[in-house]
Amino acid sequence: MAACLPGATPLALVLTRRLLLIPCFARRLAISGNSSVRLKKNFETDAATRRVFVPGNLATRRSHSCSAASSSQPELSRRQDVLVLGIETSCDDTGAAVVTTDGRILGEAIASQAELLGQWGGVVPKLASEEHRKFIDKVIADALHNAGVQESDLSAVAVTIGPGLSLCLHIGVRKARIIAKNHRLPLIGVHHMEAHALVARLTEKQVEFPFLVLLVSGGHNLLLLAESVGQYVQLGTTVDDAIGEAYDKTARLLGLDMRKGGGPALEELAREGDPKAIKFSVPMRGPKYLDCNFSYAGLKNQVRMAIESRNINGDQVPLSVASAEERKIRADIAASFQRVAVQHLEDKCRRAIEWARKLAPSLSSLVVSGGVASNQTVRGKLGALASELDLQLVCPPPRLCTDNGVMVAWAGVEHFRLGMYEEPPDADEPDDVRLDLRPRWQLGDIYEEGQSEARSLKRMNQHPSLTSQVRTILNEIEGRQLST
Ligand code: KG4
Ligand code: ZN
Repeated sequence: MAACLPGATPLALVLTRRLLLIPCFARRLAISGNSSVRLKKNFETDAATRRVFVPGNLATRRSHSCSAASSSQPELSRRQDVLVLGIETSCDDTGAAVVTTDGRILGEAIASQAELLGQWGGVVPKLASEEHRKFIDKVIADALHNAGVQESDLSAVAVTIGPGLSLCLHIGVRKARIIAKNHRLPLIGVHHMEAHALVARLTEKQVEFPFLVLLVSGGHNLLLLAESVGQYVQLGTTVDDAIGEAYDKTARLLGLDMRKGGGPALEELAREGDPKAIKFSVPMRGPKYLDCNFSYAGLKNQVRMAIESRNINGDQVPLSVASAEERKIRADIAASFQRVAVQHLEDKCRRAIEWARKLAPSLSSLVVSGGVASNQTVRGKLGALASELDLQLVCPPPRLCTDNGVMVAWAGVEHFRLGMYEEPPDADEPDDVRLDLRPRWQLGDIYEEGQSEARSLKRMNQHPSLTSQVRTILNEIEGRQLST
């Protein structure tokens, strides 16, 4: 989340800043006179006056606390707590939370845009951004208040820098930089999808790397092998739409109350329906599709045709005024859609478990996270699959599956305690400095067997993956070590 100074050479700037992100490695580089020494000194000075652990302390503590938030660790006294503020504004939820490095959620707050969603039937970036602007200060103030702390008590600020809507990311990142600048705090730029994945390690202490993770949200359908913080192998993604988008679209066509969110509204209606009433076909089955990719555009189309052929007009006749007979038809469509949408997840997870076991035979957990992971059918079906294949299923509680500040704070903690953060912004940095936002930002390296033509087209204009960036830094450091 480095600020892009106008006119700076991006590569050189990025590399210098990236090296500054890794003080535990940087200490070794310091022998050759790298400027990271300056960074470490800053934090030592800060630590004397404020409760910031110097990176060395964090590195030492790593062996006790790195695998997950350990409940067996002795309670840190408040005075010693390392507190990370997380800020989330990538889409339509303004979230903030304060989390400790040993995994206690001290305070959280969220402002959702359900009313707007209901009014417009989807996220309108400009309006969503205005809402974030309206609520960001209050949400952060509430999170701090609930935690019983002030900005000056914080140790670091984590903020989502992508992927997401630029106009929305901008609000959170700008606010995070201002807080970090005012209190000389380290900054952690968080990948939204990594935050969805890592939050499972906050809620389930036994989730250790490597683990398989399915991320299902409004814009993403990802299957990844999580190898360590910042290191992921992408086994599959969607070639068109994500499952959350298919839920939302189906909910709109069925005339559901979008203020509840398309997914939750559809899940509720589906409980009244017969999941076998309509024979939608499961996407990507057969010998042509021996991969872990997803496709929901075809299913969306099948649903649209089923709705049109039954003369259902959700726009003009919302579910609340539909006749009992028509309600039943809509419920059958909802249930049949959900059965097939979830079956598609199951098919691809089954294959991904096979692939992941080849790469990581010790695999023991399947994590499912992202908004759609709050769905009970998703949890039930994938739970059964996991137990059939001898894995433990880990789904964060529903409120931590949908977008929230806690997951960002926790991803910040995971990076922070490995020494991966950016130095505080300069005291004279203007509040309107140009920001490095990453609206299209891949998380993992693509597993060779998972390549597809459609996806390489979709990768155009993407920011290099977080995994490749972290690997570049590690290689660079290794190269320097070898040459000294
Ligand atoms: O992760 P998330 O909160 O935001 C994004 O990063 O996209 O996911 C939002 C998506 C929406 O498409 C929403 O309809 C879906 O998750 N969702 C659900 C449920 N709760 C949220 N889908 C199905 N069933 C649910 N209970
Ligand atoms: Zn999300």
